[in-house]
Amino acid sequence: MSTLAGKHIVLGLSGGIAAFKSAELCRALVKAGVTVQVVMTEAAEKFMTAVTMQALSGRPVYTSQWDPREANNMAHINLSREADAIVVAPASADFMAKLLHGGADELLSLMCLARPIDQVPLIVAPAMNREMWSNPATQRNVAQLKADGIHVLDVGQGDQACGETGDGRMLEAEEILEDLEAFFTPKVMSGKQVLVTAGPTYEAIDPVRGITNLSSGKMGFAIARAARMAGASVTLVAGPVHLPTPRGVQRFDVRSARQMLNAAVLHADAADVFIATAAVADWRPAHSADQKIKKDGSGQTPELSFVENPDILATIAQSPRGASGDLFCVGFAAESHDLLAHATAKRLRKGVPLLVGNIGPATFGQDDNALLLVDASGARELPHASKQALAVQLIDDIAVRLTR
Ligand code: C5P
Repeated sequence: MSTLAGKHIVLGLSGGIAAFKSAELCRALVKAGVTVQVVMTEAAEKFMTAVTMQALSGRPVYTSQWDPREANNMAHINLSREADAIVVAPASADFMAKLLHGGADELLSLMCLARPIDQVPLIVAPAMNREMWSNPATQRNVAQLKADGIHVLDVGQGDQACGETGDGRMLEAEEILEDLEAFFTPKVMSGKQVLVTAGPTYEAIDPVRGITNLSSGKMGFAIARAARMAGASVTLVAGPVHLPTPRGVQRFDVRSARQMLNAAVLHADAADVFIATAAVADWRPAHSADQKIKKDGSGQTPELSFVENPDILATIAQSPRGASGDLFCVGFAAESHDLLAHATAKRLRKGVPLLVGNIGPATFGQDDNALLLVDASGARELPHASKQALAVQLIDDIAVRLTR
C-alpha cells in the first residue's frame, strides 16, 4: 500500500500550461487513496477548468478567498488546517516569487502563508520556460524558498510548449507521485549507500545467441525503489530487463555475469549494504564465437562446453569489508522446495548475515511474492504481498539490523 493512502492533500494550481498534468496528478493521488482538495488561482483557471478538477477530485474546488461556502468565511485557514501537505503544481515563476515575499492577495498564496509551518509541509513543482527557470531571479527565489523550508521539486528537461527545449518543464504526474510518496516515507536508510543487483545475466554463445533465464528483475527494482524512498542513495546494477529505472536511482546496465561482477565490485567499495537479487547464470559457454555459428546442412550440431561463472555475492560477502560486516550483504535464494533448509545452507555457504528465500518458479515475472528471511538466529516469514510492499518491509528489516 502506498504511504500516501489516507493522506489529505491540498493540491494548488497556479497559472501555467503544465496545469494539464495536474489533472492527471489529481487522478493518480485519488487512486493512491488520497483525499484531494483543489485550490486554483485565477490564472490557473485560464488553463484548466474548476469543473475538470472537481470531477477528478470529487470535491468542489476553491478559487477565491471570499468563498461564502465557509461558515466563518476563512477558507485560507480552514483548508490549510486539514491538510497533511500542500502541493502546488504547477508553481509558476510568479507564484514562487509571491511565496518568497509572503504575498497573499489571492486564496492559494494566502493559504500557503497561513499554514501552520511546522505541521503542514509545502511542496512546489515549478513549471516555466527555460529562460525563466535559469534567470538569476528565479534561481535566487528557489534557493531562498528551500532555505525557508519549502520543498522545491526538480524540474524536467525537454521540449517546452513555447517551442524551445531545456530545463523548466513540470515533472510528469507519476514522477511527482513518486516524489510525494518518498516525501512521506520514513527515512530509515538516510545517509546509507545501497547496492542492488537485479535481473538475469546473458551469456553469449555467438554474436546473436546466448543463454539466459526468466528473471524479470521486478524484485530487485522494487528493493532499489524502496531503499531510495527510505533515504538511501542507491546504485542498481541490472542485467537485461525491460523495466523503467526507479526515480532517483543510479542504474548501470550489464549483460554477462562477469560484467555484473565488475560493476558490483566497483560500487561495493562505497556501499553500506549489498543486496544481491540477480539471477546470475551459473555457467557460460567456455568459448563465445566471434561470428554467428552457421548451420552447414550436414545435420551436425555444435559442441558447447561450459565454465562456471564467478559468484558475485560470495566474492563480495567474503571480501574484507563484507566479512567484517562494514558492508552488510544480503543474498536471495530461489528454490523449488524445502525453502528453509536450502536457504539456511545457502546463507552459510555464501557467508552472508541475511538470506532471503522465495519459491523460484512461483515468483519469476510475477508482481507478487512471499519471502522467508533467514539469519543466524532463525527464520521470519513475510507473507504473500506485492513485490513493492515486500521490498518496503525488507528495507525496514535491514535498517533495523544496521543499527544493532
Ligand atoms: O547459488 P545461487 O545462485 O542459488 O545463489 C543465489 C544468490 O547468490 C542470489 O543472491 C544471487 O544474486 C547470488 N549469486 C551471485 N552470483 C552468482 C550466483 C548467485 O551473486 N554467480
